[in-house]
Amino acid sequence: MELKRTRLEVLKAYIDKELYNIQDNDEKRCSFVHLYGVSMCCTMIAAKRGEDIELAAMTGLLHDFYVYYNANDPNRVFTDHGRVGAVFVREVLNKLQLTTIEETEIICSGVANHCDKLKIDCSFDEVIKDADVLQHCLYDIDFEPDEKYKVRYKRLIEEFGLVHLKN
Ligand SMILES: [Fe+2]
Repeated sequence: MELKRTRLEVLKAYIDKELYNIQDNDEKRCSFVHLYGVSMCCTMIAAKRGEDIELAAMTGLLHDFYVYYNANDPNRVFTDHGRVGAVFVREVLNKLQLTTIEETEIICSGVANHCDKLKIDCSFDEVIKDADVLQHCLYDIDFEPDEKYKVRYKRLIEEFGLVHLKN
């Protein structure tokens, strides 16, 4: 009997297939580490705050997918990759047919707003932004956090009681 794959598994398989096409090995590695890392942080933060865990995990996987999907393009543009990426993610979700119209809206909002780290958006979008910050900061705790991440990182350390991490 064939086991039915969850939609998270279907999404991961779709994303993996694209990421394996990245020619530069360092970027390929970063793409998996970052997208999966943010997705796991999304799961943890959503679980703590009572947000939709599955949608948060999916949004984490998709939040920078546009950037990595275009990794082999030497003219790739990073400017406003949140909003541009959300348009791309909407196409992906429409193609995959994994989400309802409402769920697609929630995910696309999270992707669109994730770059606005200095602004506060709805509670779901805040999960994605905080997860992005947490992955960046926890990836190498010896690096000084990016200036625009510092306030969020400090709040996350307090929220999760990570008292032994320096900030
Ligand atoms: Fe990111």
